[in-house]
Amino acid sequence: MCGIMGYVGDKNTTAIILDGLAKHEHRTYDSAGIAVIADGKIHETRTIGRISKLAKKVKEEHFSNGFGIGHTRCATHGEVTENNAHPHISSDNKVVLVHNGIIDNAQEIRTDLEAKGITFHTETDTESAVQYLAYVYEGDPKEAITKLTKRIRGSYALVIMFSDKKDEIWTASKGSSIVVGHTNKEGFCASDPSALLEFTNDIWFMDDNELALINKDGCKFFDFDGVEHFKETMHLDWNATMANRGNYAHYMLKEIHEQPHTVAQTLLGRVADNKVDLSNDLDWTPEQAKGWKRIHFVACGTSHYATVSAAHIMETFGTFDIRTEIASEYSYRNIPIGPDTLAIFVTQSGETSDTLLAARLAKSKGAKCLVITNVRDSTIHREVGDALITPAGPEIGVAATKTYTAQLTMLVLLGMYLAKLRGNLKEETEIRLIEGLTSMPAKLASLLEQEQEENIEKIARNFADAKGFFYMGRSLAYPPCLEGALKLKEISYLLAEAYPAGEMKHGPIALLDKDHPIIALVPKNILWEKTMSNIEEYMEKGSPIIAVATVEDEEISRYTKNIIYTPETEPELFSFVAAIPLQLFAYYIARQRGCDIDMPRNLVKAVTV
Ligand code: AGP
Repeated sequence: MCGIMGYVGDKNTTAIILDGLAKHEHRTYDSAGIAVIADGKIHETRTIGRISKLAKKVKEEHFSNGFGIGHTRCATHGEVTENNAHPHISSDNKVVLVHNGIIDNAQEIRTDLEAKGITFHTETDTESAVQYLAYVYEGDPKEAITKLTKRIRGSYALVIMFSDKKDEIWTASKGSSIVVGHTNKEGFCASDPSALLEFTNDIWFMDDNELALINKDGCKFFDFDGVEHFKETMHLDWNATMANRGNYAHYMLKEIHEQPHTVAQTLLGRVADNKVDLSNDLDWTPEQAKGWKRIHFVACGTSHYATVSAAHIMETFGTFDIRTEIASEYSYRNIPIGPDTLAIFVTQSGETSDTLLAARLAKSKGAKCLVITNVRDSTIHREVGDALITPAGPEIGVAATKTYTAQLTMLVLLGMYLAKLRGNLKEETEIRLIEGLTSMPAKLASLLEQEQEENIEKIARNFADAKGFFYMGRSLAYPPCLEGALKLKEISYLLAEAYPAGEMKHGPIALLDKDHPIIALVPKNILWEKTMSNIEEYMEKGSPIIAVATVEDEEISRYTKNIIYTPETEPELFSFVAAIPLQLFAYYIARQRGCDIDMPRNLVKAVTV
């Protein structure tokens, strides 16, 4: 997914743009480029590879300051070459732009313009936009851009400069997100809001079919017909330090370590006196809650696995008819959805297109919709309205960690609150779980102590050459296996399968051997004996065992020396204490294998297509 940074102001434009691009480095990219306009001329540098390489090249060419745009490209149309890297400049050198998204009718526009004698220089879909803009430009940027938006089809966040318009940056957005900010005679735009945090927390999220003009005096917003409108700024309660790696080797490691804090933050204001209360977030009445006969959890990836844990927990309260659905399937099956459905969409980024499409479907069928997201005012939040915002702060590592446990926390609170509104939450259960949750930050912190981490690192070192892993657990210990296996797959590129321990004998047992270790999740208070009897059988097939067991479980050492101990917790809350060991295990395996942990191959942080 491409990253964009734009700047207009009196500071070092090149440095600000390069720094802004570096803040997008967690997005997969293959090439990068920057264009600055100074003295009416476009100065451009592009390169294949990292932003650090671009920075060196820019220095050599001694860019003067001005106003500018930068881009990190993840190739879709056209190979990975310097020539295809953005920014792209029109043949008459009057317009320069960067683009995130896909222009569906690029070829048609190109053929038209070539027939008019315009020469194209790249293989990209983006070039059709810049050449078309130059073709229709008669000195009025807004007029030219509105013409462009009527001519192109597809999804785009475009950031555009005209060489004869000093200190003006234009953006156009449709189906691809971009944020805009302004402070002290400086204007900015970026793909990722965290790139603007060191300048301002008050930003504008561009809507679909919207244009913006950014200059030193401020920002103006228009629709695609060029009509100006007022737009409220959104205040992001994130800070710049949250988006820094600090002394950690990777963002992922830093974010793993933030979890005691982010879980505590999520509980804040939602639990008091051993009671759960979400009335500050939701204006639901007991009558409404009783009217929802079906609960649908809809999400992708890690967010989906958080909902699977939540559903297992909510089942223990009884009376809920719950489905946990993968968003990319939800929209294409004939699942009954109606006004008696409470549809809960969980998405860290708030921009995942499958989840967004599923939310639109549920809304159109009259379901009551709620979003759980980490990004306030993200697209799904704006579209659905009702939301619970996880206060995990920006998550930079592609592999979700702290947002997962924040989602888990919010989901458990939501499940309890719903059950309570429906009159189904026993007082002793509420007290027991709230005590469990409030003691969770300390338990998570104990899992991050140096000794614990060294033990996990050592186990990972011993197993880094395995061909694949099986994660197993039963009942409430099964959902965390799903997330643990996903973490390993994502960042270490090893095959990892999660199975309910009792299900292995129905086929996958054929795969067991010494090269396929089993990670057995065996908390003392969740079907310990049944799980261990499964594990014993699997050990006979030659698979080494790594056990995630409850502290002081002495019996487990009869089965294996590779033990990761977790603190005792309520069975319903086991997913929390399993999360950190499994995240650290995946992290250290990936590190042993020399993988690019924060930017795993083929993955992007938000899947917006
Ligand atoms: C998590 O580690 C993954 N990167 C991925 O599965 C992610 O959870 C999924 O794409 C959903 O993203 P979302 O929560 O932003 O919607």
